[in-house]
Amino acid sequence: MSHIEIRLAERSDLQALRALQARSIRVLGHGYYTAIQIETFISRVGTMDDYLVADRTYLLATCDGEMVGCGGWTTRMPGYARNLPDAHRYANRDRATVRSVFVEPLAARRGIGRRIMNAVEDRLRGEGFATVELGATVSGHAFYRTLGYQPLREMRIDLGGGVSFALTVMSKTLAANTGSRPPACVA
Ligand SMILES: CC(C)(COP(=O)(O)OP(=O)(O)OC[C@H]1O[C@@H](n2cnc3c(N)ncnc32)[C@H](O)[C@@H]1OP(=O)(O)O)[C@@H](O)C(=O)NCCC(=O)NCCS
Repeated sequence: MSHIEIRLAERSDLQALRALQARSIRVLGHGYYTAIQIETFISRVGTMDDYLVADRTYLLATCDGEMVGCGGWTTRMPGYARNLPDAHRYANRDRATVRSVFVEPLAARRGIGRRIMNAVEDRLRGEGFATVELGATVSGHAFYRTLGYQPLREMRIDLGGGVSFALTVMSKTLAANTGSRPPACVA
């Protein structure tokens, strides 16, 4: 039995982060998106904007020293939003968005995603945000509903070549921190 540890991601983690993110969406996104949608999303949009790490708003989770998940937040415009008709919504720096939450497939359904989201929401509360939004993948929708996020609207990112990628904009009001203990994970 081991405990999950959460720390800020560093530039030196970028390569491993991208590899984990690609594995995560390829395996855990299977059945929710086609392989063409996933591969086009990875190559044309990318699983993470580098500024998240540079801004020190990106966390990673380790279990026995192994990277098992990641996620962050920003007030910057997400890369995926640039081509949306309502991109201006994301240029408002008063809005906080959860970004790029991924869990290693072999470590899925052990509470790691929840633990990352708790840490992200704690930091957002600390920065004074009362609400938060995110663009949920189809594969992440049930997870976010469990965590109290409500769907606001659907969006479809045009990836070119007739390929698109569906997301649901979801939001949550951040309640006061309950101080609950982190769950343990089995390595
Ligand atoms: C979505 C994701 C981050 C969830 O991470 P996780 O560590 O497996 O989630 P947790 O174990 O913390 O799950 C917490 C709760 O959320 C719900 N949940 C999580 N994944 C779920 C799924 N695939 N289907 C239904 N409910 C789910 C469950 O209620 C779960 O509690 P339980 O396991 O006790 O039933 C992970 O599946 C993932 O990385 N998916 C691929 C990438 C992706 O789509 N990321 C979202 C980007 S917006």
